[in-house]
Amino acid sequence: MTTNELKKAFFEAYGKEAEKVYFSPGRVNLIGEHTDYNGGYVFPCALSFGTYLLIAKNDNKVLHFKSLNMPEVTELQLDQLSTPLPKNHWVNYPLGCIAQFIKRGHKLEQGYDILIWGNVPAGAGLSSSAALEVVTAYAFNELLGTGYDRTELAKIGQLSEHEFAGVNCGIMDQFASAWGKKDHAIFLNCDTLEFQHVPVKLEGIKVVISNTHSPHKLDSGAYNDRVAQCQLALKQLRAVRPELKNLAELTEAEFEKIENAITDPVAHRRARHVVGEVQRTTDAVKALQDGDIEKFGRLMCASHVSLRDDYEVTGLHLDTLAEEAWKISGVIGSRMTGGGFGGCTVSLVRDEAIEEFKQKVGKAYEEKTGIHPDFYVAEISDGAREIK
Ligand code: GLA
Repeated sequence: MTTNELKKAFFEAYGKEAEKVYFSPGRVNLIGEHTDYNGGYVFPCALSFGTYLLIAKNDNKVLHFKSLNMPEVTELQLDQLSTPLPKNHWVNYPLGCIAQFIKRGHKLEQGYDILIWGNVPAGAGLSSSAALEVVTAYAFNELLGTGYDRTELAKIGQLSEHEFAGVNCGIMDQFASAWGKKDHAIFLNCDTLEFQHVPVKLEGIKVVISNTHSPHKLDSGAYNDRVAQCQLALKQLRAVRPELKNLAELTEAEFEKIENAITDPVAHRRARHVVGEVQRTTDAVKALQDGDIEKFGRLMCASHVSLRDDYEVTGLHLDTLAEEAWKISGVIGSRMTGGGFGGCTVSLVRDEAIEEFKQKVGKAYEEKTGIHPDFYVAEISDGAREIK
């Protein structure tokens, strides 16, 4: 939908003009998976699709939430903004952000009418929920004049996810949505939140996202299990390294010396992935900056293998897409992206191989799974903003 169409839809829903229009993007992570909540590095970029939020004040001291992707309007009184709605209600994502403003001592003195529309493919693991959280945090930061920077807005989004959606996620998705920059990826240290925008303008190569359309999304249970397994590994490692703050602090050599302290075999594999993935992410960013795109691609493939074998978050759908992609000579690298199980892979593909990629990977995937995948050439875009 265009901005004008969205404004028209707002008028139809509320019988008045929208006062402001905001947008925040989804993301794709190039490398650095399941490292964020372990204090490691990630390397995501913001996409051109995301979530729009249109808003106008009202005099009724209520908040109205309507999404063009859902039929009903949700109405909340100003004293109902600190309690989550029932589990899985979509309004929990924006509501959880508003609750964070209230928690920080900011008061809503009046009501608002809100209309949401998103064009991130649903269930694709491209962070439609982070886009919704960050666009809400961005909008209320402006409307309430609270002056938080983008990092703080990302934290507000992450806390909404923890406290209102029940997912103990890391900071990557909200950070990428808040801080995205056109034609750049974000090399983020998730412990210190220091980051650098690194150019991703590749001559004759595209970032291609392949959607499994698989029903097996990473649900909050499987995700929170991974978080807990990493915490167990960290706890056991502290028996021999009491000062250890995060798994990501360990080099691979250091890990090898003390890994026997992890007695739980599952936690051991999870920790081995995290330590290796942090190293791969640092190496990949350096390779990109040195112009060694082939090395970047090899590290992407190694990341997938580790997520498949040690982290166990891939499965038939993601493995088929990645492994079929590896067979094509114009593919520089391919891996799962995001939380895992279902969702998408991300691949670097030479321009001249894109058609062959779609055709061969699509055919093999459909034969194996009975599902038709979708392919998008990613447009790396800016982060949260007002649309004038
Ligand atoms: C999900 C989470 C992120 C991150 C990724 C895995 O997208 O929301 O915080 O942990 O999974 O890298």
